[in-house]
Amino acid sequence: MKKYKKQKLNNSNLKNLSFIKVNLDKSNFEKSEIKKCDFWEASLKKTNLSSTKINDCIFTDANLSNSNFKYSNLINSNFTHSNLKGADFSGATIKNSNFRDANYDESTKWPKNFNSSGGLLVKKSTLNKIKPKMVKNNKLVDNIVKVLTKGKGYYVLKNYFNKNKIQKAQQILKKIVLKDKKIKQNLDNFAKDKKFCQKWIINLLNIDPIFIELIQPKIAMKVFEKILGENFICGFYEANCLLPGARGQFPHIDYPYNYNYEHGEDIPFQTNGNFLFNCQILVPLNDINKSNGSTAFLDYSYKFSKFPNKNNIKNHKFKQIKAPIGSLVLFNGLTWHTSMPNYSYHKERYCTLGQYIPHFIKPMIDIRATTKKNIVINDKKYLAQLLGLKAKFPIKKK
Ligand SMILES: [Fe+2]
Repeated sequence: MKKYKKQKLNNSNLKNLSFIKVNLDKSNFEKSEIKKCDFWEASLKKTNLSSTKINDCIFTDANLSNSNFKYSNLINSNFTHSNLKGADFSGATIKNSNFRDANYDESTKWPKNFNSSGGLLVKKSTLNKIKPKMVKNNKLVDNIVKVLTKGKGYYVLKNYFNKNKIQKAQQILKKIVLKDKKIKQNLDNFAKDKKFCQKWIINLLNIDPIFIELIQPKIAMKVFEKILGENFICGFYEANCLLPGARGQFPHIDYPYNYNYEHGEDIPFQTNGNFLFNCQILVPLNDINKSNGSTAFLDYSYKFSKFPNKNNIKNHKFKQIKAPIGSLVLFNGLTWHTSMPNYSYHKERYCTLGQYIPHFIKPMIDIRATTKKNIVINDKKYLAQLLGLKAKFPIKKK
């Protein structure tokens, strides 16, 4: 077989020629006859092959994107692994040709009979359809990702939720809190033990549909998809209900578990924060500020990659956030944070907390086991993913 030498190819008949790796972009072969030619790894972008007779040719790994095969005759040829994005085969006759693992997309045009056998070695379904990329540039998502990974480590998004919905969630939890015998008995006891000023509420998804909404704010899902990878899951989802007089916490991170490590210890994964195993959201169900013990964060502290010491609250400048009801707080899971004491006598501070982790990390809480099946089935958004139902052991595509 002769090697192709640079020459004018337009409208010429070609036989027994090798074009391996040759760039033939935008060439014109209209009405030509091409027989026993090898175009392996050749570039044939925007090439005009309309009304050509192609017989016994190799196009393996060739780039045929946006090429024109209209009314051409393709016989006994090999198009395996070729790039057919945007190629036009309308009106073409294809016989005994092999398209195994060729890539095409929405803009590729096929002849009408392409799904019937038509003498093809493979059916269209065995080609790889490339999904159009979601190139929608969401500046807010990008900005939040930047703040969480390169900025101070947390982001307060005000007026994200409908305030009435959040108030409804607050009222639902309040009823549960007041049903707690110890809390109820001590409500008017001025000097009560402060442990009766707080209640954690779990299994939120079974309580009311509003909590199905609050576990999956769309903006957070888009942000975490970028930081934690596709199919990230939820590690915990609970409500922390703090009554007036509730004590604060020690500064901490939940990375991805907080109870197996000592204060001041380095995180077990030395990735310099370049690869995150945890992001979190906090949804305040009241206006939160210094007066009711809002959460405090230490700017840029994710860079330490360690669990804070108990006394770090005194020797670092933690900042308490101020956020009106309806806000959404997103944070890098390595960011040091703490719930501050609620020094008020009449202000409650309720919030829901969600932790999100890559799909290969074992969740702290088995939410999947405790959530009613029909709740997951009926959700059309992220719930099945968040509960790990999509996290299957990797299998090879057939
Ligand atoms: Fe925490």
